Amino acid sequence: MARIIGGLTTSHIPAIGNAIARGLQDDPYWKPFFDAYPPIRAWLAEHRPDVAINIYNDHGLGFFLDKMPTFAVGAAHEYRNEDEGWGIPELGAFPGDAALSWHIIESLVDQEFDITSCQELAVDHGFTVPMQLFWPGAPDNPDMPRAVPISANTVQHPIPKLSRALAFGRALRRAILSWPEDIKVVVLGTGGLSHQLDGERAGFINTEFDQWCMEKIVDDPEALARIGRMELVEKAGSQGTELLMWLMMRGALGDRVRRLHQNYHVPVSNTGAGTMLLECVG
Ligand code: DHB
Ligand code: FE
Repeated sequence: MARIIGGLTTSHIPAIGNAIARGLQDDPYWKPFFDAYPPIRAWLAEHRPDVAINIYNDHGLGFFLDKMPTFAVGAAHEYRNEDEGWGIPELGAFPGDAALSWHIIESLVDQEFDITSCQELAVDHGFTVPMQLFWPGAPDNPDMPRAVPISANTVQHPIPKLSRALAFGRALRRAILSWPEDIKVVVLGTGGLSHQLDGERAGFINTEFDQWCMEKIVDDPEALARIGRMELVEKAGSQGTELLMWLMMRGALGDRVRRLHQNYHVPVSNTGAGTMLLECVG
């Protein structure tokens, strides 16, 4: 039977992909951010997950304003990176696990989450940057797990409620645990924390709110699920809606988790960057 071993959060800022491509990990601007990752890589090397469920938000690449699924699940054999960003070297395709994807889709729809299934899905920095952070050299790192991308709409309102994001994660947990193969699964929640890239409040970051979120996500995700969507935009900025991914991830981990590692660094580009490793208990 499939097991969920833990969850990882990270910002997915495109500038990180650029810093990786240029080897800037020890640069004074970047070092406090990149220093968060070796302990998480050590945990991954010890536990060797077979599959990474990568919960991210598409930024207008795979989906655009003309068609915007609220929740979408990848069901492809591989996922191409077509991110526009920063002139970084092209990455190869990321291998998927179509059989597991279809099981998850069947189970979610059975649980009345009427998602969009995607047999073809181009992925952007929301998906690729975290894979590169956790598995350096990805997609060419032989230890990199197969990926199942799951995207929620944070681009075009109405976005899903935070309570719905948490409920989605819990349904995803039931879906994964009912997969008969004996595999280990890690769940990524990518994006956030507070940031606003445009409009009058461009550059807005709310450190106090970010740190409160990093506390609550461990033992009290319900407190986060009670935040209203417009309240989230006020507190975290218009792109701080990416906190939805953290709630979806957290729902998939079950009731009890152990926080093994965390880092908060601000700013990276325009964003409060929160990195966490939560291990499932029991
Ligand atoms: C930035 C952050 C994001 O989440 C994103 O998708 C693009 C850019 C930034 O801070 O630059
Ligand atoms: Fe983003």
